[in-house]
Amino acid sequence: MFRYFGYTATFPLFFLFLAFPCLPARTAPDPLAELTADLQNATWHNFVKFIDAGKGSQLTGMSELKSYFQRFGYLPESDTNFTDTFDESLESVVVTYQKRLGLPVSGKLDASTVTQIMSPRCGVSDTAHLLHVTKRYAFFSGQPRWVHKSTLTYAFSQSDMIEYINLAEVKSAFQKAFARWSSVIPVNFTEARRYASADIKIGFFKGDHGDGEPFDGVLGVLAHAFSPENGRFHLDGAETWAVDFKADRSKVAVDLESVATHEIGHVLGLAHSSVKEAVMYPSLSPRTKKVDLKLDDVEGVQALYGSNPNFKYSSLLESDISSCWAVRSPAWAIFWIIVMGYMTS
Ligand SMILES: *[C@@H]1O[C@H](CO)[C@@H](O)[C@H](O)[C@H]1NC(C)=O
Ligand SMILES: *[C@@H]1O[C@H](CO)[C@@H](O)[C@H](O)[C@H]1NC(C)=O
Ligand SMILES: *[C@@H]1O[C@H](CO)[C@@H](O)[C@H](O)[C@H]1NC(C)=O
Ligand SMILES: [Zn+2]
Ligand SMILES: [Zn+2]
Repeated sequence: MFRYFGYTATFPLFFLFLAFPCLPARTAPDPLAELTADLQNATWHNFVKFIDAGKGSQLTGMSELKSYFQRFGYLPESDTNFTDTFDESLESVVVTYQKRLGLPVSGKLDASTVTQIMSPRCGVSDTAHLLHVTKRYAFFSGQPRWVHKSTLTYAFSQSDMIEYINLAEVKSAFQKAFARWSSVIPVNFTEARRYASADIKIGFFKGDHGDGEPFDGVLGVLAHAFSPENGRFHLDGAETWAVDFKADRSKVAVDLESVATHEIGHVLGLAHSSVKEAVMYPSLSPRTKKVDLKLDDVEGVQALYGSNPNFKYSSLLESDISSCWAVRSPAWAIFWIIVMGYMTS
């Protein structure tokens, strides 16, 4: 049975000296303090003052919070002249936001809600394009997808790139991100030299860059991409992009590959998911890697394109496990190898 060992008695021993399978490597004592420390200039850092506000509260700057919710699709574009009062309309917005982001629904600006609001995130709206909200993954309205092509080309802008990471490393991060999606759906991605004619056009931009969705400086909005078959894929040039957190010690460093993986989901036609673990969840903390597609992401994208004939659900399980043990102890790796061996024998 436990064929990796001569006798089964070894197995319970492992249970004794190993802890929990996949807890965060480092448990943050206070996520809010962690988020605000050293982020003095980060977009939205001053929303911390709204903690504990609820209906009837009146706080200077509450109108900016309403603009934030409008920006991400929770209030109609036509609303103007926001007041600083926490009114009934804001309460219902907070409830919708909490549901969409998979938070406890209190209707108040509790600490976990404010922490989520302040977290760096994708610029694509959470609700405006929603076709349905019954499933956890979501599509853009009309369910657009790439219909005529099974190979999509991508190219990098000549002029709008970052210089502090060498091009080969940038390309490698994108290659890995594209490969994850093409391993689950029958769509291939290849790099093209000509930017102008590529299906997917990738570039780094700062501030207003001509598409009506200006970037906002350090953290806040990290990137955005357009739904099919548009192909524009923009990253905020003001971020400290990283391909290796060991080489980049910045507290505000953002993992390029993780953001690339998320934005490719939009390029393919997925909107935001309310599943916190999913790649298509809208936020990503600094210094965090989140690159493995989860079941929710896979089900969503396969609903649009069908399954890659080589895709196996068991590979999802394996990738979950490898992402666990890669950052933790080798002992756990051994444990999971035993479990996998047992399950597949
Ligand atoms: C915040 O911005 C000011 C002015 O631009 C700068 O001098 C300061 O170093 C920044 N602080 C941090 C923590 O980045
Ligand atoms: C908003 O405020 C501006 C300037 O204070 C005013 O001219 C405008 O009529 C207001 N709009 C609405 C819809 O109240
Ligand atoms: C993608 O590329 C692989 C390897 O070149 C090929 O076998 C497969 O048929 C391609 N899939 C599609 C949908 O073009
Ligand atoms: Zn997004
Ligand atoms: Zn843009």
